[in-house]
Formats: sequence, C-alpha cells, structure tokens
Amino acid sequence: WTALDTMDLAGKRVLVRVDINVPVEDGRVTDDTRIQRVAPTIKDILAAGGTPILLAHFSRPKGKVVAEMSLRPLVPALEAAFGAPVTFVADCRGPAAEAAVQGLPAGGVLLLENTRFHAGEEKNDADLAAEMAKLGDIYCNDAFSAAHRAHASTEALARLLPACAGRLMQAELTALEAALGQPQRPVTAVVGGAKVSTKLELLGNLVGKVDNLVIGGGMANTFLAAQGIDVGKSLCEHDMADTAREILSKAEAQGCKIILPVDVVVAREFKAGADNETVAADACPADAMILDAGPQTVAAVADTLSASKTLIWNGPMGAFEIAPFDAATNAAAQQAASLTKSGALVSVAGGGDTVAALNQAGAAADFTYISTAGGAFLEWMEGKTLPGVAALEG
Ligand code: 3PG
Repeated sequence: WTALDTMDLAGKRVLVRVDINVPVEDGRVTDDTRIQRVAPTIKDILAAGGTPILLAHFSRPKGKVVAEMSLRPLVPALEAAFGAPVTFVADCRGPAAEAAVQGLPAGGVLLLENTRFHAGEEKNDADLAAEMAKLGDIYCNDAFSAAHRAHASTEALARLLPACAGRLMQAELTALEAALGQPQRPVTAVVGGAKVSTKLELLGNLVGKVDNLVIGGGMANTFLAAQGIDVGKSLCEHDMADTAREILSKAEAQGCKIILPVDVVVAREFKAGADNETVAADACPADAMILDAGPQTVAAVADTLSASKTLIWNGPMGAFEIAPFDAATNAAAQQAASLTKSGALVSVAGGGDTVAALNQAGAAADFTYISTAGGAFLEWMEGKTLPGVAALEG
C-alpha cells in the first residue's frame, strides 16, 4: 500500500475514512482515544495544504437514518483534537455533501454524516461508492479498526480514487507485522476472555505461529474440563471439549507450548471482594467458580514473559473487572510493561476488554503498541485478509 506522506496533497480534497465509533453518553464523548489517534493524519493533511473530508460510521443504524446515531455531536471533540474548525453536513453523498465540500473554508475539516445511514454502505454498493468518490481527489483509509468490513467507504471507494493508508492505519499494520509477521522470537501470546467459541480461529492460527500460548480467563476452564478436571460452577463450555483437545494436540504437534492455570482463585459469588481461596487447578470445589489464575500460574507466566522477545495479548486472564480477581491480569500486564520499558520485549495488545484491562493495570502506556481495533485486531490475528487493507493494495 501507499503511505499518506508519499502523496501530493496540496490543494487536494482528501476523503479520509476514519473510525470515530467512540462511546458517547448524553451527547458527550466519554473516551476520545480513537479521535486522538486519527488526529495526526488530519493535521498532516491540513499542514500539506489538503482538505480533509471525513467519512465514518457510527454504531449500527442498519441502513436507516437514526437521529441518535448521528455523528454531529462529535464535532466539538474533533475540533479539540484537530485544532481546526469542523463543519458537519447531514449526508455523506449527494447535493448537500457536494455543496458543503465546495463551501468549505481553507484550513477547515468537513465531517460527513454516518455512512451507515445508507443501506448501500454495508452492501459495499458501487453506486454509493461512486457518489462518495465525487467528493474527493484522493482516498485515505485511516480506519484499521473498520478494515475487517467490506463496506462502500472501506472497500469499493478505495478502488475508485488514488488510495493510501493514513498514519494510524500504517502504525497498526506495522505493529501487527512486528508481532506476528516477522517477529523476534520467542513469541508469546496471551489469550483470555470468557469463551473459547468466540476465539477458536484465533487459537487455531496462533498455535501454528507462536512459541508459547498462555490461555487465561473463562476459556481456560474449558481447557481444564477437556482434560477431565472438574471445574465446579465455573464458566465453561463443556460442548467445546473436543475442540479444546484438538487445539492442544495441534499445539503439541507444532511445538507450541501451552500454559494453562496450575492454580486458581475460586469464590462462591461473582462480586467484588467475594470470599475466595486459592486451590490447585484440579481442586475447584463443586459449589465454587474459578475467577482468576493463582500465584503459581502468575509465576509461570512471568518466567515465560521474561524469556520472550515478543508478546501479543488479547483478552484478560481473569475476572479483571472485579477486584481481587484482577490480580493475574494486573501482574502479567505490569511485568510486560516493565520488560517493554527496559527494551527486552516488543508488546502489542488489542481487542475490546484488553485495552480496558491494561489501562486498569496502569500498563497500557508502556506497551509498544495498543491497537484501536476490536474485531479487526482479532481477524488479523486469525490470519484473515482484511478487505479494507486488501483494497489499498490494489
Ligand atoms: C469497532 O468499533 O470495532 C468498529 O468501529 C467496527 O464496528 P462494527 O463492529 O459495528 O462494524
């Protein structure tokens, strides 16, 4: 793909696909991370004398105009992040959008309304893409986190104009390539979260690529149960036992070491501060549930991380949202952060809960790279081609 900084942007209208699908409460942005991360691209375009015209989706209006899913309330947060005036227009195509492009003052940014208000967006419709293409001279995709969607603004449009990757897209792809493409070995993956069923393809792909795979969170219970261990009342997908065993034997065949809990923290209630005890992984009482990995497991993970050169992390190792069941996640996150800080480890993390868990552990700032993506990060790690990236490659 072509990088933004190799394009001549002076006097050009640059259609920038951004992902500003951020949490909003009572009309205010409550976490502007995605907006901040796309700001360098917008500032670069302005500095080069180009006009940024933003295309974005927001939530899932399913092809209809839904007032609560308008992008208009994001304008103040965008202006603050970009340090430039942002004009909003209530469509992403057609006469109103065309007039807004014409009337935009120099040095200004135009925000087009939610692309998903048109049914053609999610259908990757060629006519909608052609109408969007009329609004710009250049297409820049800076929405890695939406690149797993083959939509009109992420896929078809890229084929209609000279296309390039924005700075955030470039940073995401470079970081992921460093972690899984041509990584420094040994590579350790930490995969946690509630369910094996949502991460099957991920686990299957990773065992063929990484040297060590730490399995944590609720999904570890399924692996313990698949080995004949009674996990009491723990979250567990008993119907996935065969699949879990297949993953374990694939790992063995491919020389990937699997690290499962050897001890666990159990409680009888799922609530903060619940009475708890630490037991061996095969000694969960029948009326208790596993909510975190225990100290011996934390020590085994620590040994693995100390001996690793690259870490890729997706999903918490325990019920991190309720103390004290955040201990294993916090310990591994903090150790990874300090190894990264000392230059011993390249650490890349992404996906829904993961970033929240690393923030809570105070570890996120020291990671080499934190992806803004949820689903796209997972699909990339599963080894899938992302349509939004493929379209940039021509
Ligand atoms: C995300 O929030 O992960 C992206 O914006 C993609 O959103 P979607 O899952 O609604 O396509």
